[in-house]
Amino acid sequence: MKVLVTGGNGLIGKSVINELLSQNISVRSMDLSKNNSENIENFVGSILDVNNVNEAVRGCDAVIHLAAKLGVKRTETHRLETLNLNIQGTVNILEAAVKNNIDKVIFTSSSEIYGDQSVDFISETCPRNPKSIYGVTKLASEEYMEAYYGYYNLNYSILRYFNVYGPGQVAEFVLPRFIKAAMDNKSPIIYGDGSQVRSFCYVDDIARGTALALLSDKANFEVFNLGNDKDKVTILEAAKKVIKVSGKDYLIPELISFKEADRSTDRDISKRVPDISKARELLGYEPIVFLEEGIKRVMEDGEIPPSWIDPMEY
Ligand SMILES: NC(=O)c1ccc[n+]([C@@H]2O[C@H](COP(=O)([O-])OP(=O)(O)OC[C@H]3O[C@@H](n4cnc5c(N)ncnc54)[C@H](O)[C@@H]3O)[C@@H](O)[C@H]2O)c1
Repeated sequence: MKVLVTGGNGLIGKSVINELLSQNISVRSMDLSKNNSENIENFVGSILDVNNVNEAVRGCDAVIHLAAKLGVKRTETHRLETLNLNIQGTVNILEAAVKNNIDKVIFTSSSEIYGDQSVDFISETCPRNPKSIYGVTKLASEEYMEAYYGYYNLNYSILRYFNVYGPGQVAEFVLPRFIKAAMDNKSPIIYGDGSQVRSFCYVDDIARGTALALLSDKANFEVFNLGNDKDKVTILEAAKKVIKVSGKDYLIPELISFKEADRSTDRDISKRVPDISKARELLGYEPIVFLEEGIKRVMEDGEIPPSWIDPMEY
């Protein structure tokens, strides 16, 4: 079996590729830059280029589609590019999948499609009600997945990831931002009152769940939440955990208002914890890396870039 992983040089792509390789599955990465893993094929190119996408898909049996634009500030300030890349990019992958008789396409969606929900654990049946442009692109792409199934009988699984983190993640996300601050002997800065609830999921757990969905027939034509349901924390508690793991007890989280932070509350989500019972039951998925251990691994790796380096082409 050969699998094309788009976004194969990103945070999750790298971990997914390692997971596939550990299961002796052949991998081709498609990204704007080369993935340096040994024993994989690299296709360096954009998913917005139809010819590139066709060439990258040709000869593969399945596609895990991860390439996208993400990040709160980045997607809100580049709305047109986000819509174009995340939606048109997905359509290009689906077109190429049909042309090349691909057996299965995994689309990686996001908890952002749920927006704000009142329930403690968000299940797949909760209404989809995105607050952000990024969430809208994921919702539209999910609809494309179902439309391609309806029209071409293309096999798919949709995975809705919840707050993934891991080594090398850019400091535009809250957890690496806190970790970088602590590593630099600075207080983690919290936007708002820190009461927002999250349950962070370590990247290798997400990668394992993604491979399970790829390989299980029970995942065909299904939607799954993937995340960690046992690691619920408020943002303030997450900052305190980062300080505890760093051993720098003299650091104290600093709270600043959204206004001062030049951030909008419009797209802030107050509570987000996944119900992963469907993935547990159908796929045998179980997250195993918990927050303190995950923070430790990110600190040990030590590589936290401030942001993405966006190439000129979009
Ligand atoms: N990180 C999270 O918390 C999270 C949560 C929910 C969903 N997701 C989804 O998971 C997927 C992977 O996220 P990630 O955290 O690894 O992000 P990432 O930014 O680390 O990786 C995305 C990769 O896509 C590549 N890419 C961007 N534009 C491209 C283009 N035009 N052509 C080819 N490649 C391109 C980038 O170079 C990058 O390597 C995304 O679809 C994202 O929306 C992530």
